[in-house]
Amino acid sequence: MRIAVCPGSFDPVTMGHLDIIERASKLFDKVIVLVSFNPSKKTTAAFSVKERMELISRVTKHLDNVLVDCNDGLLADYVRSTGASAIVKGLRAVSDFEYEFQMALANKHLCPDAETVFLTTSTENMYLSSSVVKEIASLGGDITGFVPPEILDDINERLFIES
Ligand code: PNS
Repeated sequence: MRIAVCPGSFDPVTMGHLDIIERASKLFDKVIVLVSFNPSKKTTAAFSVKERMELISRVTKHLDNVLVDCNDGLLADYVRSTGASAIVKGLRAVSDFEYEFQMALANKHLCPDAETVFLTTSTENMYLSSSVVKEIASLGGDITGFVPPEILDDINERLFIES
């Protein structure tokens, strides 16, 4: 069985993430969407790990071979423990590349049996990120189309602070 791990902060999951997860689910027998800890993100998370997992589960319930998990340790250790053969990441722009390339090389060193597979983002999601979604929602902007419709209200309710 070919297992892939799709790691990220997912705070919250966006249409860009969902696109990558859906495409990975066609390429692999099983895809584990892994809510992971990114030490370089210093700002307080909008959603707890449990909430992020619940949001991802809701928007991926149509995908039979996708499951959701979390990990606060090294990604490479988690990948090894599951027997996954791939780490799937989405690449939006050249600006993502250097950071992702560095992580892919480090993960290859730590877990030589797994390959990092990059899927290029769909053009409509090129500018999309959880941070952009959070900023727009917090200022009362419309995030329809940026996040899956099932979780639109959850995000607006959490982030919009009326002034
Ligand atoms: O969505 P993000 O924040 O860009 O995802 C980055 C993430 C969480 C996948 C990355 O920070 C990660 O793998 N964290 C787990 C800790 C780890 O293994 N760090 C070393 C990476 S080489």
